[in-house]
Amino acid sequence: MFTLIDGKAVAEKIRGEVKDGVSKFREEYYRDVALAVVMVGDNAASEIYVRNKVKACEETGIKSLSYRLPATASQEEVEKLILDLSEDKSIDGILVQLPLPTGLDSKKILSLIPCCKDVDGFSPENIGKLSKGQDTLIACTPYGVIKLLEHYNVPIAGKNAVVVGRSDIVGKPLAMLLINADATVTVCHSKTRNLAEITRNADILIAAVGRAKMITSDMIKEGAVVIDVGMNRDENGKLCGDVDFAEVKNKCSHITPVPGGVGPMTITMLLSNTLKAAKRREGVV
Ligand code: GUN
Repeated sequence: MFTLIDGKAVAEKIRGEVKDGVSKFREEYYRDVALAVVMVGDNAASEIYVRNKVKACEETGIKSLSYRLPATASQEEVEKLILDLSEDKSIDGILVQLPLPTGLDSKKILSLIPCCKDVDGFSPENIGKLSKGQDTLIACTPYGVIKLLEHYNVPIAGKNAVVVGRSDIVGKPLAMLLINADATVTVCHSKTRNLAEITRNADILIAAVGRAKMITSDMIKEGAVVIDVGMNRDENGKLCGDVDFAEVKNKCSHITPVPGGVGPMTITMLLSNTLKAAKRREGVV
């Protein structure tokens, strides 16, 4: 029998802690914890993400400020907005929803977010600190994955962890977190040869590719812990992960469902990062 990792339940527990922290913060510093969410254009998936982020802020008492610019906004307009938010002392976190419309220089725009307000943990400085094992704002999805493993008391030290996917948002920071937790880490990607041979060696397998059901049971070691970061649609339009859940579940010791696994943790860690950024700006941590 396998254990189903309940991301919703873990997320709720952490959100409760963040909510308490936010109300304590307000009592102590007489101000709100505030997150600015910037969205440019009208990408359908981004609309849903942003709506969920704003709702989650409301539920935890974090003040959220939404900034919407049209897809036709110029590079200068977006940069001006980010610079204004950077200087605004009442704002603790700035999140620019990605992807930005083509034609905009995302790298340049993101580089204008000061690292103390970089609640996505994407800035080179925060990534650098993570790589050195220093305390910092950690990218939300990888951070959420580690929190899930911790919650279920999955030992990481000395284990073989295989990350499938090398994105800046998930794969790379997750590999660093796992190294910092003393795992032996392998990162696989589209050019990897003999993928199944490598994944079969994983005590902890993390799929973060974005291809429906690509991880099949023949790729899994008996008793492995399987974390599915994927969010795809299957041939019937149904939401599914990168892991073929129906067959893999019978081979592993723990597995995350999609939806209800990693997904709820991402926004939760954003809330947690926003509170952390606020505390740091007040010199608390
Ligand atoms: N688009 C998809 N995932 C993310 C994320 O984690 N942060 C931001 N800012 N945009 C995203």
